[in-house]
Amino acid sequence: MNLLDVLLYRGQHTCPWWCCFTFDNPLRRRLQNPDLILKGLVQQGQTALDIGCGMGYFSLALAKHAGPSGRVICVDMQDKMLEAAKRRAERAGLSTTMQFHKCTSNSLGLNIYADFALAFWMVHEVGDQGKFIDEVRALLKPGGTFLLAEPRLHVTEAAFNKTVSTAEACGFEVVSRPAIAMSRAVLLRKS
Ligand SMILES: C[S@@+](CC[C@H](N)C(=O)[O-])C[C@H]1O[C@@H](n2cnc3c(N)ncnc32)[C@H](O)[C@@H]1O
Repeated sequence: MNLLDVLLYRGQHTCPWWCCFTFDNPLRRRLQNPDLILKGLVQQGQTALDIGCGMGYFSLALAKHAGPSGRVICVDMQDKMLEAAKRRAERAGLSTTMQFHKCTSNSLGLNIYADFALAFWMVHEVGDQGKFIDEVRALLKPGGTFLLAEPRLHVTEAAFNKTVSTAEACGFEVVSRPAIAMSRAVLLRKS
């Protein structure tokens, strides 16, 4: 690890709960509009996973896309994140569509089939990416899609490409490389 890595806080760490208050604000909404990012990825009635949901910045938008007949499973390993996401779901009147699941750092511990999974700015926090991506794949229906986005400053291009190669080795195919502000992103399909 060189000085730039240290200054940009690269390497494994878990985003502290208080940091996520900075993750939903008008500036982020301008740069990373959740409805535009998720457009076309989730249909009414479908099941979506928001893994490393934090305070639910994307979970609420997923719930709107999935509609009342769909469901969104919000997964995080920190109670405070899940509690905040749950409060926001209740305030938005979306809590019947959304479920909240606490996982551990090395297992999602879910037994469902989803049409879509999102891991936004969280995979760099995972210790064993191969095991994690394998687990996400097992939770998707055949043909299910997985949007994986990482923070551009924290995650180098080389590190991101390694994550994409790991996903391909796990049995995902690359559908596209969406342009998302301040991010490196890939849309994957379970092949
Ligand atoms: C940087 S925050 C991003 C939150 C949210 N996705 C967003 O974009 O606003 C990363 C989140 O991933 C969670 N996380 C980290 N490692 C995890 C793991 N192995 N399993 C589930 N959640 C994890 C953290 O607790 C934190 O809430």
